[in-house]
Amino acid sequence: MTLKRTHTCGELKAEHIGQEVTLNGWVGPRRDLGGLIFIDLRDRYGVTQIVFTEEDAVLHAKAENLRAEYVIGIKGKVIARGEENINPNLITGEIEIEVSDLVIYSEADTPPFEIKDGIATNEEVRLRYRYLDLRRPEMQQKLMLRSKAYHAIRSYYHEHDFAEVETPVLMKSTPEGARDYLVPSRVNAGKFFALPQSPQTYKQLLMVSGYDRYFQITKCFRDEDLRADRQPEFTQIDVEMSFVDEEAIFEHHEGLLKKIFKETVGEDVEAPFPRMSYDDALNTYGSDKPDTRFGLEFVDFSEIVRNAEFKVFSGTVANGGGVVGFTIPGLGSMGRGEIDRWTDRAKKEAGAGGLIYIKMQEDGPLCSVGKFLTPEIVNEMVEASGAKTGDLVFLLAGPKPAVLEQLGHLRLMVGEAFDLIDKKAFNLLWVTDFPLLEWDEESRRYHAMHHPFTSPKEEDMDKLDSDPASVKARAYDLVLNGSEIGGGSIRIHNSDIQQKMFNLLGIGEEEAEEKFGFLLDAFRYGAPPHGGIALGLDRIVMLLTGAGSLRDVIAFPKNQRAQSMMDNSPAEVDVEQLNELHISLKRTLK
Ligand code: AMO
Repeated sequence: MTLKRTHTCGELKAEHIGQEVTLNGWVGPRRDLGGLIFIDLRDRYGVTQIVFTEEDAVLHAKAENLRAEYVIGIKGKVIARGEENINPNLITGEIEIEVSDLVIYSEADTPPFEIKDGIATNEEVRLRYRYLDLRRPEMQQKLMLRSKAYHAIRSYYHEHDFAEVETPVLMKSTPEGARDYLVPSRVNAGKFFALPQSPQTYKQLLMVSGYDRYFQITKCFRDEDLRADRQPEFTQIDVEMSFVDEEAIFEHHEGLLKKIFKETVGEDVEAPFPRMSYDDALNTYGSDKPDTRFGLEFVDFSEIVRNAEFKVFSGTVANGGGVVGFTIPGLGSMGRGEIDRWTDRAKKEAGAGGLIYIKMQEDGPLCSVGKFLTPEIVNEMVEASGAKTGDLVFLLAGPKPAVLEQLGHLRLMVGEAFDLIDKKAFNLLWVTDFPLLEWDEESRRYHAMHHPFTSPKEEDMDKLDSDPASVKARAYDLVLNGSEIGGGSIRIHNSDIQQKMFNLLGIGEEEAEEKFGFLLDAFRYGAPPHGGIALGLDRIVMLLTGAGSLRDVIAFPKNQRAQSMMDNSPAEVDVEQLNELHISLKRTLK
């Protein structure tokens, strides 16, 4: 028999004292005190203390057999806790339930780890027993926050007249830059679907079909190297709009983010969000997703040292490279050993060739390469850096843009090490004016920096033939605390320009026809100007909950090797299944 609960385990307070209640939940920690048995009864709403007295010997004996994680239902009376037992940290801390009836629904084996917050259990074990891990209050809070986020997202878009449309999961490959997950077709021998890396082509087709505001909360699949903020299967808030420019997309998504923040963590974020061009982000923070919660902005010393005797500086600048650095306030007295450790980290972790410093001492600047430079140059550098007595300047020299990226890494490391990052802040930033193309040395051809459907800036159209590398795109990213949480663009809606873009990317007419013929065809039947964005829902929730990894905000995630520890997938399949799919394996991997 299942008892119908009258309350959850997270809601009974002093005002309920005297009431007869029914609760269901899992058995948590128990204490036996001189005949009284106290148990913390837990469900996803909270914990309520229940107590078995010796009055009813049968009930007491039954309670003695209760073990951790048994699932039970109880009836009882809400009573006040003794003054000394009141727990002000718990919503239910003023009361307990004197049990009069107990039903045991399920017994439980001893779980492989304790069901409580802050456990040190190896993550692989937690992933293997994910259903138990998800029982822990901190995991439940994260998933409940995620659930609130879905609600905020859906209501925002519905309030603003967006149509929610589902797009296929079995589809043709879209080029988002990662490898595809493929699905063999049984009925079409030798042919494969690709799982969507994003619904990019479909959402553009929906614009051609006239659904001028579309959104979808959708799964995307990318077979790429995994990191803490990358899962092979992740969730996008995918959006496309017709007859819009960048401003309309920004405005809507500032509204969306405001709503998500308010309804999940109660935070008021200010809009409009700051904006920064890609070039400025790279030159000032060494990253196209700068963490603007702290300073350490870069200064470019290249012009000052262009004619220096010191060849490391002048040679670098002559070859188009740069000498760049940032000032760390108050660290001018850093000792030799610590500077050596930073040099080591700059080389090993940031990939720098070496680390140069200027210590701003009482008796003047001390530059690590000062003996190769004139005092005038050192003074000019100090002036440009804005460093004051007691400060420290770190500098790197090298080819651009690599040196900027290395300094960007070093900046993050220094920010982290010296606690310069305001961990409570939520800094949102639009990064704009991305280059359209990116040169890939290995394949010796251009790749699309966003994707091939991104429109070049109007004013750069004429440079598409003459100087493609300098063409800027109508593309933007949304950055939160140094993480890319979204990206999008205004699209090409003209098949000739789209074809030209494919040519630049080395995709010939035949290949374009074969891969994207349907989209090029669609554009010939009246395509509205359109643009959109996709936000990484998992990343947003990760940052809102302060989780260290996407795995903590996805109910059933994959591990770093793209495996599910719980159900052991991916797994081998029967030969018959392979035969049906017309597949024979080259070799069986052990
Ligand atoms: P993009 O590839 O930038 O754009 O993806 C959009 C956002 O999705 C998130 N994201 C990921 N999150 C977790 N794991 C991953 N492996 C992963 N890859 C991406 C990021 C990213 O900003 N179709 C375009 C959007 C558009 O142009 O409208 C697209 O997919 O937060």
